[in-house]
Amino acid sequence: MYILGINAYHGDAAAALIKDGRIIAAVEEERFNRVKHCAGFPAQSIQYCLREAKIDIADVAHVGISRDPSAHLHKKLLVAAARAARGMVGSGRVESGRQYAEGRQQATVALEGEDAGGTSGLSGTGNGNGKRKGLASQLADRLRNAAKVRDLKDDLAKQLEVPRAKLKAQFHNIEHHRAHLASSFFVSPFERAALLSIDGFGDFISTMWAVGNDKHIDILGQVEYPHSVGIVYTATTQFLGFPHYGDEGKIMGLAPYGQPRFIEKFREIIRTEKNGQFRLDLDYFRHNAEGVDMSWDDGSPTIGRIFSDKYGDAFGPPREPNSPLTDRERDLAASLQLRLDEVAFHVLNHLHDETGLTDLGLSGGVAYNSVMNGKILLNTPFRRVYVQPAAGDSGTALGVCYQIWNQLLDRPRGEVMEGAYTGPEFTDEEIRRELEASELKTERYSDSEVTERAAKDIADGAVVGWFQGRMEFGPRALGNRSIVVDPRRADMREILNQRIKKREPFRPFAPSILAEHVGDYFEQTHPAPTMLMVYQIKPEKRSTIPAVTHVDGSGRLQTVSREMNPRYYQLIEDFYKLTGVPVVLNTSFNENEPIVCTPRDAIDCFLKTRMDVLYIGNHVIRR
Ligand SMILES: [Fe+2]
Repeated sequence: MYILGINAYHGDAAAALIKDGRIIAAVEEERFNRVKHCAGFPAQSIQYCLREAKIDIADVAHVGISRDPSAHLHKKLLVAAARAARGMVGSGRVESGRQYAEGRQQATVALEGEDAGGTSGLSGTGNGNGKRKGLASQLADRLRNAAKVRDLKDDLAKQLEVPRAKLKAQFHNIEHHRAHLASSFFVSPFERAALLSIDGFGDFISTMWAVGNDKHIDILGQVEYPHSVGIVYTATTQFLGFPHYGDEGKIMGLAPYGQPRFIEKFREIIRTEKNGQFRLDLDYFRHNAEGVDMSWDDGSPTIGRIFSDKYGDAFGPPREPNSPLTDRERDLAASLQLRLDEVAFHVLNHLHDETGLTDLGLSGGVAYNSVMNGKILLNTPFRRVYVQPAAGDSGTALGVCYQIWNQLLDRPRGEVMEGAYTGPEFTDEEIRRELEASELKTERYSDSEVTERAAKDIADGAVVGWFQGRMEFGPRALGNRSIVVDPRRADMREILNQRIKKREPFRPFAPSILAEHVGDYFEQTHPAPTMLMVYQIKPEKRSTIPAVTHVDGSGRLQTVSREMNPRYYQLIEDFYKLTGVPVVLNTSFNENEPIVCTPRDAIDCFLKTRMDVLYIGNHVIRR
């Protein structure tokens, strides 16, 4: 039985396909259309999933989308009515074409990591053109957009260019956070686990916790709109002069440079309450009182200003984008990160008290905050943590599949998602054809030569493009679409930034380490196979791997086992044999764009940057 899950009309559009409970494919639309965080309909992703399974859409038994217009409808309508009423008495507020109170276009804010980002911001659909709207018009919008979700079948038929009658599947709306929770439990190694989805907003909820038991998830609690820790992170990110969807990870990277001297202010902005709850001081924000414009011009989501003037009263004027960073910004980032940690541990400790469990499944856009994730074991009773590799909204496509398979159909579990290698791969023949078309001079190595030669290139100081096997799902490159360099060279950060990445200099680069050696280099040893944990590097090892040691001595590591990725493991092992260091620097294979997907993308990126050598499968191009 085939089940197709979709995240559509929403940041990080994606599709996933499972067969009898096993993952066939999961992928983000941005990789195909090359629009970062693309928010439309994931038509190319769906087509890829069907191709991978060698089936037709008519073979799919169930189709689900991670949005449920009927969820929390009462509250959605109340907010729409209240806001419209304020508009009608002449507040002068300009309402965007989208409201939070719509089914299809929820406010969805999330946090994420660095390179490729994920879901961040108030996302949705909508046409974003400012228009003042009355109650009737708002409610009409609501109904139209709710209908849009229900018309998924029409859209799917249209986008796939097949007659509607060809779609035999049963269609489902899965509430946003239930999809997140499912994505972090049904493919986890845990038979029972506490679960937390911590996010911006989705279906009017910002945070939901639950207990997973075999094939079922029972919801235990939630934090409702307009209260959201994700929205505080996004608002502060905007205030600090980083306006783009997905910029939150930059603030996470900036935080260790500062001192949390504004922490008391942030404790006022988000107050924790009993039973795992928290509340915002809404005077600091515009999203509830005024609404925030959102649009996705050219497919990338954009978000209007969320913070209110009260931020300025508290912290001074907002920083202009691209102006120099001062201690104030660094200290604000540090205070924000500390408050996020405190609130997350508050919720998690409550979740542990409520369940008594020590295994945790984690999802939602805020679960891309790997600094917070890395401290969970130190600040809560949880002993094992599974973070869904696509913790943000793309991962809800996968969660939808399993919510249908396990929870709704009561089918047995059997899949553990260890890596995130669920995207396209290319045959040797396909790669060879692309290389021939590019008219570049190439060589072909044997399997053992590929890793040995690449390891030597890395040890010699080359910037190595590493394109192998199936593309990763989620924002992290995990050794199949990566750029790999020598972590022992302190100047490698600057070299990467000058020659390829052009990132802000304060942002760290990440290490991949052989799983057996984690305890030699890091203070914590819990596996981090998908690069979503930041641990402290042992003080005596920091000077060995300076290029991946952040200013506070931390590193956002990827632990690599032979079982999970044999070729990447072999590359690092070969580097270890040469150098005595079982660590490489791994950054995503891209230049300010979505991570490369095809051999063509990789060759283009190689040509337009100053990469030294590109390994694609067993083929090699040198400059
Ligand atoms: Fe979400």
